[in-house]
Amino acid sequence: MDHLNEVLKILEGALQHNVRKAADYAGLLAEKLESDGEMRQAGMLRQKLARVPAQTLAPVSLQHSLPVDSESQLHTLDEELPARADIALVLPENAAERIEEFVQSTRATEKLAAAGIRHPARLLFSGPPGCGKTQAARLIAAELGLPLLTVRCDTLVSSLLGQTSRNLRRVFEHAENRPCVLFLDEFDALAKTRSDEREVGELQRIVISLLQNIDALAPETLLLAATNHAELLDRAVWRRFAWRVELSLPDVNLRAHIWAMKLGQYAHTDLSSATLAELSAGLSGAAIEHAAHDAIRAAILRGNDTIQPIDLLRRLGLVIAMHNGIQLDSREKEIEFLRNWAPRWLALRKLADYYGISVRQTNKAASGGQHEGQEGTPDSGRRPTGKRP
Ligand SMILES: Nc1ncnc2c1ncn2[C@@H]1O[C@H](COP(=O)(O)OP(=O)(O)OP(=O)(O)O)[C@@H](O)[C@H]1O
Ligand SMILES: [Mg+2]
Repeated sequence: MDHLNEVLKILEGALQHNVRKAADYAGLLAEKLESDGEMRQAGMLRQKLARVPAQTLAPVSLQHSLPVDSESQLHTLDEELPARADIALVLPENAAERIEEFVQSTRATEKLAAAGIRHPARLLFSGPPGCGKTQAARLIAAELGLPLLTVRCDTLVSSLLGQTSRNLRRVFEHAENRPCVLFLDEFDALAKTRSDEREVGELQRIVISLLQNIDALAPETLLLAATNHAELLDRAVWRRFAWRVELSLPDVNLRAHIWAMKLGQYAHTDLSSATLAELSAGLSGAAIEHAAHDAIRAAILRGNDTIQPIDLLRRLGLVIAMHNGIQLDSREKEIEFLRNWAPRWLALRKLADYYGISVRQTNKAASGGQHEGQEGTPDSGRRPTGKRP
């Protein structure tokens, strides 16, 4: 039977006197029938749904019914319905394929079940910060047309001993009762290994309660998690996730694609994505996005249609310096760093123009205040051009 999951959920809702749950899943069933072309059956369902009292269904902004931490009164879940068009990710081929396979398998849960193949809808993203884990979770929810319920680990871990487990239970119960994707972001905060010496007692309780909740979750409830510290995760937690996708730092090809995507129409012909990709070795997608958006912002404020190559290079250089823990607290240090970092692209004259100082001053700064007038024409009388945005 097709769509058995939805039928079972509707039945569950009815048996629990949970009209909202039954109606939500009936709505989902109607959508699935419509996409199968079963308009007549979908119409019959929608007719029935139209008779459900408005108060029961009204709060599409379900905020008020989201679980809260009783100590802080803060929501422990965030709700969002991500739109596919808002998500632009450049992912390694194998990761993209795996994500696509997960989405396809989720769509085909019943078909797979009919053939005796279970689809455990649990996927764990791991990888360094800024490599697209949170966006990939949004992408899955958007592809499936389901709301993404992101667990707020900060409010979930309550200051009150014992309250965290209760919070966790409420979060899982909430997710169980409606069609959604439950997403445990920054998962390591919750699932640190049980051998962690700090706060051992409380952490153990949290991990045990987390495992119990995951085990009690109906297999078709979609559960995603993301962590920066895969190595900190308890093995027992790892095992619960049949699907694992590692999103590592982008290689040179991916970086070129990310640059092209992030700069879009603002890209400058003098500075190719391939060059930028080489100059941004070791950076995450988030860091590239940061530099690209900074340069685009500056271009828009200047009233230009494209970024200024030297401006983007400077911003990229600063991101790289920060990334390497290098403090550039004066213009001279900045020039020295930039000149050493990309001498081919940042000639003294270009830098002098950009900073509005003479080539001689630029050269002095570039050589750490040691030499003067070794490159270009010494031009001590130049006036600042003020080209720097
Ligand atoms: N591979 C990528 N392609 C395009 N954009 C990317 C990529 N990786 C990161 N970004 C951008 O960087 C920003 C941060 O990404 P995201 O929040 O998904 O990273 P994350 O892996 O969850 O990081 P953290 O571990 O810090 O939570 C987003 O705006 C995202 O669009
Ligand atoms: Mg994230």
